[in-house]
Amino acid sequence: MTALRAQRSGSLAGGISVPGDKSISHRALMLGAEAVGETNITGLLEGEDVLATATAMRALGANVERLDDGRWQVHGLGVGGLAEPSAVLDMGNSGTAARLLIGLLATHPFSATLSGDASLSARPMERVMAPLRQMGAQFTARDGGRLPLTVTGATDPLPLEYELPVASAQVKSAVLLAGLNAPGETSVIEPLPTRDHTEHMLRHFGAEVDVEDTDRGRRITLTGQPELTGCDVNVPGDISSAAFPMVAALITPGSEIALTGVGVNPLRTGLLDTLLEMGGQIEMTNRRDGGGEPMADLKVSSSELQGVVVPASRAPSMIDEYPILAVAAACAAGVSHFHGLKELRVKESDRLGAIARGLAASGVEVEETEDSLTVHGLGGPAPGGCDIATQFDHRIAMAFLVLGLASEQPVNIDDGAAIDTSFPGFVELMNSLGGDIEAA
Ligand code: S3P
Repeated sequence: MTALRAQRSGSLAGGISVPGDKSISHRALMLGAEAVGETNITGLLEGEDVLATATAMRALGANVERLDDGRWQVHGLGVGGLAEPSAVLDMGNSGTAARLLIGLLATHPFSATLSGDASLSARPMERVMAPLRQMGAQFTARDGGRLPLTVTGATDPLPLEYELPVASAQVKSAVLLAGLNAPGETSVIEPLPTRDHTEHMLRHFGAEVDVEDTDRGRRITLTGQPELTGCDVNVPGDISSAAFPMVAALITPGSEIALTGVGVNPLRTGLLDTLLEMGGQIEMTNRRDGGGEPMADLKVSSSELQGVVVPASRAPSMIDEYPILAVAAACAAGVSHFHGLKELRVKESDRLGAIARGLAASGVEVEETEDSLTVHGLGGPAPGGCDIATQFDHRIAMAFLVLGLASEQPVNIDDGAAIDTSFPGFVELMNSLGGDIEAA
């Protein structure tokens, strides 16, 4: 346990870059392992979640090597070339690593067992098992479709057309990755668009992926058994990590910070749209192609934020950002309503419950329903002076530390260890901007 305390700091200032995008990092390692030849990755996130993927790909026979900070090289095995692992694959805290890998393994004809930490072992896996069974994979899982589970991949995989019952990029990606080693076309139809990093990266490695809008939603079709070729992948900074210093600067008077090289894929920028609607001063400059994914530089200045209504349709484009958005809403003037949050109940923790309890403990009035949150903004700093139970959830930990930087009394979190899953160096980075976070 690493208890941490954040207390009111002066203004934040400086220029930073945040660690690489977690979603893109997982996919780069997995597709590198499925490609023929050498893949060179720069900017890879070296957080625990992605390191779990690297270890798993090695256990499945790929040659995965760290060359230098963020520079990794993968010698792949070709589509369908993964080998049976000799031990259990430990996916740590990472739902993305687990679900995407289950997809890949579903069309490899051997058995593999995946485990995870207490948080991951409580998360639903039936959502990926259901479509993958239709492709011929078999599963043995704990009650309720939980990890540890064993996947036995199909010997003669069947292609599939699957309509997603939940807007989930992980489920979409699991089916598409399974489709890599299936003959014919595998399609996923999604009711609301979710992050499309898998689609971009599949194309980048040479696969054929078609996207069309239908009356049932967006249909993504992969032509199976492509020849994937190793390539260069540049991972942009993670906008989901950038969100924490951004909101810290917005709510801490007199601040101005700059962030370079942040990924701004339009299916990930719901928080930017929302913060702009709240009156946040955020400038995006130098928009460029970061090798298949758009990136840009951001300048953020402290702002008088107003309450906002965020519709359910925007949730997939900012699904990981609600903890920090709720912190911004707590300091904004007026009431904010966030809708369509049911998925937050099954993240690294029950995030909706954790946000509501944490804000209430910090002196902010909130109302929580099964799938929505109302925050009564204070139009200034929160009282703070509380202890937050993070439930080993990195984003709950970081969100409440940011709240503490702009609160009247310090905010303590019981354990900051989970931050390393997605944002190694978070505390040092925030303190380099002028923040005051230290061991409690
Ligand atoms: C991710 C998809 C999202 C997100 C997660 C990363 C991905 O999960 O919450 O942090 O990389 O595909 P869902 O697809 O379950 O919404």
